[in-house]
Amino acid sequence: MRKKVIAGNWKMNMLPNEAIQMINDLEPLVKGTENEVILCVPYIDIFYATLNAQNTNIKIGAQNMHFEEKGAYTGEISGQMLKSVGVDYVIIGHSERRQYFMETDEIVNKKVKSAFKYGLLPIVCVGETLEQRESGNAYDIITNQTEKALDGLEISQIENTIIAYEPVWAIGTGKTATSEDANDAIKEIRKKIGGKYGQDTAERVIILYGGSMKPTNAKELLEMSDIDGGLIGGASLLADDFSKIVNYNK
Ligand code: PGA
Repeated sequence: MRKKVIAGNWKMNMLPNEAIQMINDLEPLVKGTENEVILCVPYIDIFYATLNAQNTNIKIGAQNMHFEEKGAYTGEISGQMLKSVGVDYVIIGHSERRQYFMETDEIVNKKVKSAFKYGLLPIVCVGETLEQRESGNAYDIITNQTEKALDGLEISQIENTIIAYEPVWAIGTGKTATSEDANDAIKEIRKKIGGKYGQDTAERVIILYGGSMKPTNAKELLEMSDIDGGLIGGASLLADDFSKIVNYNK
């Protein structure tokens, strides 16, 4: 049985004092849940977030990393650096990074490998644009992105990779994929993993849905057979909203 993972993605929001406040507010609200609770915070907040989340069930993630360990890469942060301040997870290949920062499938793959090298668990985002969906290519796009992201990994690493299916047209738009559509797309990703790495592995991979998930639609999405959790942007900024998603099954 796969556990449910509820991951917040704060994007470029929250100053350190706001991050501390949010984690302090969230902690009592999500205490005791069996679901994995993750907050992926801006770099500037990481130190405060990991300190404040110590001895709680909240895990801290980053939103990006460079694939090299160190060197002349001005402005970049490595997996080793993230690990050194207590980060457990890292989002890789978010559509905003693919779209605005030219991240390719090859770069995503390098980052995934580097994340494992430094003991971080990657949350790899895949998703189609509206245009790709309308032209009937959505499944090809997302299964291809998945295949390339996982290329060259060991089976144990594949089983520890979290995939987030995030249709680009649903991110921050208020438009959510229907629970059936999201579930079908995720099944398609699982099928691809199964075809390449075997059914047992496919059944172990945690695959999230992301894109305008909020307290009002979370339960329906999270109760679908193949949706193992959520990657949540807007609704992760308020402790009350985010905790309602974490506690969808209470
Ligand atoms: P959203 O963002 O929940 O605000 O749509 C999700 C994401 O981009 O991870």
